[in-house]
Amino acid sequence: MDRRYDLEKQHKKGKMHAIERIQKLLDANSFFEIGQEVTHHCKDFGMDTIITPYDGVITGYGTVDGKKVCIYAQDFTIMGGSLGKQHGEKISGIIELAIKAKCPLIGINDSGGARIQEGVHALAGYGKIFYYNTKASGYIPQISVIAGPCAGGAVYSPGLTDFVFMIDDISNMFVTGPKVVKTVTNEDVTPDQLGGAFMHASKSGVVHFRHNEEGACYQQIRKLLQAIPHNNELTDTFCSRSYEHKDQNSIINILPIQSNRTYDMKKIVTSCMDDDSFIEVHSEFAKNIVVGFGKISGCLIGVIANQPAFLAGVLDCDASDKAARFIRYCDAFHIPIVTFTDVPGFLPGLSQEEKGIIRHGAKLLYAYSEATVPKINVIIRKAYGGAYIAMSSKHLGADFVYAWPTAEIAVMGAEGAIDVLYHQQLTKTENKEQVRKQKINEYEEKFLNPTIAAQHGYIDAIIEPEQTRKIIFDSLKMLGNKKEASMQMNKKHGNIPL
Ligand code: HXC
Repeated sequence: MDRRYDLEKQHKKGKMHAIERIQKLLDANSFFEIGQEVTHHCKDFGMDTIITPYDGVITGYGTVDGKKVCIYAQDFTIMGGSLGKQHGEKISGIIELAIKAKCPLIGINDSGGARIQEGVHALAGYGKIFYYNTKASGYIPQISVIAGPCAGGAVYSPGLTDFVFMIDDISNMFVTGPKVVKTVTNEDVTPDQLGGAFMHASKSGVVHFRHNEEGACYQQIRKLLQAIPHNNELTDTFCSRSYEHKDQNSIINILPIQSNRTYDMKKIVTSCMDDDSFIEVHSEFAKNIVVGFGKISGCLIGVIANQPAFLAGVLDCDASDKAARFIRYCDAFHIPIVTFTDVPGFLPGLSQEEKGIIRHGAKLLYAYSEATVPKINVIIRKAYGGAYIAMSSKHLGADFVYAWPTAEIAVMGAEGAIDVLYHQQLTKTENKEQVRKQKINEYEEKFLNPTIAAQHGYIDAIIEPEQTRKIIFDSLKMLGNKKEASMQMNKKHGNIPL
């Protein structure tokens, strides 16, 4: 190992060194370093006597499974990985190179933030990074790893990227640290409570993948890069694929006979995918919806699925945000979207209304409506009310909507509907419970099935569960050359309700 690297200092903190991280992530001997002679040009606060090799950030390119990627890794052993002008220029330069080369960018963050001695020049460095992160968005995949502290404005570069990885115990990410929080709000919080990996993976939703050690994190990044397209021009079309049979006979057993029982939607999803191909994204956040990448007969799809095993699969603010962002990622990179629907509605209540369920739910409607990639929806069980529309309905432009025979498509569930419709009548009836039950049965028979929706063309076909994988494949093959005729409205861009 090159003697410039102070591995020991970093290992003492329980962390890999920047160069070790790069080597762990990339194919062996594939890394080419750019700008290793760069250093700072600052003369203030004693900086004229300090040397900062490669100005504290290692930048360059290499390959992952033979495909090129650009990468940077901040070196905490050099002035705490702090970002000065040259350090910032190196990072924005490598993002610019990734854009030119149309290859993914990986950024490994481990830094005390803006280099205090360099003042506004450090801030300028950040600004330029944010600008290039934004330029690259939707053009190349951008992956951020938080592998140490990431504080202050520095958090906004990862915040602008597509997939953020964090590692338990060594990573923290916050706009203001615990000391400032104590001064300003008088709250006592630990760094982990304020910005640890678990908090961001499960509560804030900033983090998409959490790992308990660095090696596993870099392996997962390699796996993700094997699955996703490396820029927005590569399209892996279903047209050229042949169907690979997979036995789905037991898929129906996943669904409980009683429609108010929960089950794990991931079992249905993975039963339709190639074995071991499903990569769940954001698995700890808004668990009432599942998003991730999978393959059918070797071809990539993006999956959105309600999860009845958590909050009955209801749509709330976080679930709407999570799904909308994932749909937009898939659309930007030409990945067909397959939806599995079992949703009792939007979550009612004061807290959700105050949080802006209207604004957040609108993002989901917008993202599905806007997406022009092939869109397939399979309604497994419930599809109620506004959530029926929101979950890739025909009305929002889905190309094919299928329903299992167990599908229930209605404005609302039977009990709620009867209590609204017969409230007056039931209060006056002697045998209230019996009449209520009878009305509920009538409602269930009439509405809680896919028949009416199919008769009106809102559903293309009622399919047997064991046909699901094959029908999704055939539909995507059919749509392999899909080009949605744009409506030629000559607008700059829409205004997604952010
Ligand atoms: C210059 C810094 C630095 C910084 C750390 N160092 N942060 N030097 N500018 N921002 C130096 C330390 O002086 C020390 O130098 C070495 O890096 C290691 O730091 P330690 O404090 O010894 O490490 P540790 O105990 O692990 O603590 C890590 C830390 C702490 C929690 C990150 O260093 C810290 O609180 N740093 C300041 C964080 C911060 O407030 N940053 C500015 C955020 S505002 P020696 O010579 O002793 O080894 C911001 C604005 C960006 O970033 C706006 C963009 C829009």
